[in-house]
Amino acid sequence: MPAMGRLTLRDVNLSGKRVLCRVDFNVPMEGGVITDDTRIRSALPTIQALSDTVLALCSHFGRPKGKRDPKQSLRPCAERLEELLGKPVTFLEDCVGDSVAQAIAAAKPGDIFLLENTRFHAEEEAKDEAARRAFAEAMAAPFDAYVNDAFGSAHRAHASTYDVAQFLSPAVAGFLMEKEIAQLHKLLQQPREGFVAVLGGVKVDDKIGVVRALLAKAERVLIGGAMAWSFLKARHYETGSSVCPPESVAAALQLLEDPNLDRSGLVLPTDCHMRNRWGSFQHKKVPVTMIRRGWSAVDIGAETIARFTAEIRAARTVFWNGPMGLFELPLFRDGTMAVAQAVAECKGFTVVGGGDTIAAVEQAGVGDSIDHISTGGGASLEFIEFGTLPGIEALNPA
Ligand code: ADP
Ligand code: 3PG
Ligand code: MG
Repeated sequence: MPAMGRLTLRDVNLSGKRVLCRVDFNVPMEGGVITDDTRIRSALPTIQALSDTVLALCSHFGRPKGKRDPKQSLRPCAERLEELLGKPVTFLEDCVGDSVAQAIAAAKPGDIFLLENTRFHAEEEAKDEAARRAFAEAMAAPFDAYVNDAFGSAHRAHASTYDVAQFLSPAVAGFLMEKEIAQLHKLLQQPREGFVAVLGGVKVDDKIGVVRALLAKAERVLIGGAMAWSFLKARHYETGSSVCPPESVAAALQLLEDPNLDRSGLVLPTDCHMRNRWGSFQHKKVPVTMIRRGWSAVDIGAETIARFTAEIRAARTVFWNGPMGLFELPLFRDGTMAVAQAVAECKGFTVVGGGDTIAAVEQAGVGDSIDHISTGGGASLEFIEFGTLPGIEALNPA
């Protein structure tokens, strides 16, 4: 694919081979129940194309930080995948070691396995490259070939997304990866004029860096979700108990004080919906100047919703990642639902990305009116910023 410059499943014949395929099954889950299976469904074309191989899928789930945690097991994804494929999927309790080697050695083409959470091993994300590579080599040992279809994780240079590609040949991109990159290339080719980027969500540390890149690419950058409160705190507003990681506030401050940066496109909330977690539960809508100690801002307010949705509806191009608030709770979903609706109504080219953002779009019932729904939040942001991702770079050149 020219957009990516890497070999894809189209270029190779893996029939009869033992294939390790990295997917992103880091799906939203509540109490062991998958609340949105988009990421699993999105991997089906690649999984189906590999139906004449011995196929082992691997993924991370959540952030267990190197410890086994039954609550962060991928087992529910195996069950869901089995339903979607209409054929058995064998769940293995580890992603590396003898148990995997034995199961793969005894398997025949057509067998599908889902391996347990790669992040149950600290080496998966280790900063020490030698430790990560040794783990990747062990993961690769039972297999002949590697397919990376985990676009949503391609911004992570981890053992299963990056290093493992060096130990298997060929190492190629799956169909989801290919499609995602093509759509994001199209997004990057859109003119700055009329380009509106909307950012929210809770992974503020990860995402605040991209605001700078977005200000160069977009005419407007609308900030909601938890990220907004780091910006307001950097402007010395009282933000109470709102999610405001210190590193993010520092990053926001640096951005706000950079004399060489054109910030005219940056739009922050002017009002919010906040809740009180002390004593009896209360919630109210106030201007952002009225957030007090003990209260946390968990959605954007009506005035901000009106401003954001007007900008989005009139845009030529929209990119949206990150819910505007704690949309999992009905009380605090107005901002996110209104933004989803406005993106759907926008007549321009619209791209929405991120595991939780997709769940919100599905909840709003507007998925069909969006041009591209990306399975990656952080990944699509980093692609916009750098034009490539470690998970792509690691694959065989075309
Ligand atoms: P995505 O998965 O779409 O990339 P993130 O993972 O960054 O998005 O963030 C999604 C989460 O952000 C949701 O679970 C939502 O509840 C949370 N969130 C959004 N706004 C706030 C806020 N103001 N305070 C706390 N959490 C928030
Ligand atoms: C995501 O949900 O954005 C991806 O699966 C990556 O997850 P991570 O931010 O925990 O690496
Ligand atoms: Mg998320």
